[in-house]
Amino acid sequence: DTGAGKGLAGRTAVPALHPVSCILYLPSVMTLDTSELNKTRHDFNGRDSVWLFGYGSLIFKADFPFLERRPASIEGWARRFWQGSHDHRGTPERPGRVLTLVESPGTVCAGMAYRVAPSVFEHLDVREKNGYLRFATPMTFADGGHEEGLVYIATEDNEAFLGEAPEADIARQIALATGPSGPNSEYLLRLADSLRQLGDDCSHTFAIEACLRAEERLPR
Ligand code: BEZ
Repeated sequence: DTGAGKGLAGRTAVPALHPVSCILYLPSVMTLDTSELNKTRHDFNGRDSVWLFGYGSLIFKADFPFLERRPASIEGWARRFWQGSHDHRGTPERPGRVLTLVESPGTVCAGMAYRVAPSVFEHLDVREKNGYLRFATPMTFADGGHEEGLVYIATEDNEAFLGEAPEADIARQIALATGPSGPNSEYLLRLADSLRQLGDDCSHTFAIEACLRAEERLPR
């Protein structure tokens, strides 16, 4: 049972989301503003709510109305600070680094699931317009049960993608960047605290956090 036709919140008789293949829609290098592209990716007709999975700032910064919030995880994906940020946690001259997900068979990525009205995506598509696309994913709730949700991922074909670097270098870049949403270091430290609370052992995040704390002489 794929859940198709049941709807995202387990209700019957509403159409399933239609994930649209990235390959069909994307030019070879994706233009920077992904908000228009995201509008075409999922059909919300007939739905009163949709699950959203957050693995980064959405865990600790829910600046949108939600109907329900539940700790959850997705499988096969790992967090990486591989996406550049010149609009939130950096500037065009000094971009910061924020999260995306990369495929990682067997990895469980814990986060926070929010049940939201479809209209919330109008706000989030603009907030995350710098290279993030929405994808449909199965989610597992920490207290049991499964639903399908949407997750924002910045794929490597977007212009702001920075890719892999040594974790110490990533920490140094984060230490030096600040943008309209605040210091990049605050993003990292709040994320690390949130992951500890969720019980997620994200070695990538914690290694970068340790480098940053050492560099900034912050207590561990
Ligand atoms: C997240 O927390 O899931 C997230 C936040 C910003 C951009 C992409 C994902």
